[in-house]
Amino acid sequence: MSAGSTAVANDRAMAAKTIPGPILLLGAPGSGKGTQAKALVKLWEIPQISTGDLLRANVAQETPLGKIAKETMRRGELVSDALVEEMVAVRLQQPDTANGYILDGFPRTLGQAAWLDTRLAGQPGSIPVIAVNIQVDYNQLLRRIVGRRNCPVCQRIYNVYLQPPQRSGYCDVEGTRLVQRADDTEKAFEERMRAYGALTAPVIEHYREMGRFAEVDGDRPVEVIAAGIVAAVERLRAGGQ
Ligand code: AP5
Ligand code: MG
Repeated sequence: MSAGSTAVANDRAMAAKTIPGPILLLGAPGSGKGTQAKALVKLWEIPQISTGDLLRANVAQETPLGKIAKETMRRGELVSDALVEEMVAVRLQQPDTANGYILDGFPRTLGQAAWLDTRLAGQPGSIPVIAVNIQVDYNQLLRRIVGRRNCPVCQRIYNVYLQPPQRSGYCDVEGTRLVQRADDTEKAFEERMRAYGALTAPVIEHYREMGRFAEVDGDRPVEVIAAGIVAAVERLRAGGQ
């Protein structure tokens, strides 16, 4: 390899290790936030913080928060800002967030966005957030939601129509029986979409106006979408923002 091509390879390796900082994955129910977060975690070596996953863990463990959230989530409505913000605040204190984190499903109200903006502004030297909106149309979202199955052990995400496991009903990695989320019904999906349109769509406009914002077509193969997100984040970070 020539000196020139070695330098290019090193630059690429450095680019792949660019400190990603805080990344917000926005998008409707089923748009692929969790799927993309899991792919990006491996590449960037920063944690995925999914407020939905954290809430479901609280429900499973029957914590006081879980007891409050359980029925709200099953109906497809949003849990109160104060409860979710407190949960995120605790998680962001963990040392694994030092180089960045992928917030999956937070913020999803303008109140939560204002809370996060204020929190980050109060941390001198913190890297500004980049928000990425994953776009998918309604009929595809419905198919994704009703077809989704999860591994209860490794949290791997499958879809009986679109991303089936090798052996029907069982995780490829763990061999565990897959489960379906309590809110992955058509009825709850409609409520989740209503909450999304009324409360979360304005959050997308908030970050679009702030500038460090990208939108990707979520109706593509998983790796193509992930590459699009990485390219957008590198471009926005290189722009000095
Ligand atoms: P949450 O868990 O965040 O649910 P959501 O936002 O509705 O999003 P999903 O997890 O359903 O979808 P996703 O975008 O992660 O898609 P996935 O990658 O799984 O929240 C649940 C509830 O918790 C809320 O309703 C609310 O009650 C509460 N909550 C959470 N956060 C809150 C907050 N901040 N404030 C208040 N309340 C909050 O993919 C979906 C399916 O599609 C899978 O089957 C997957 O295999 C498939 N798929 C993904 N990508 C592709 C692709 N490219 N091609 C084909 N199939 C694909
Ligand atoms: Mg999810």
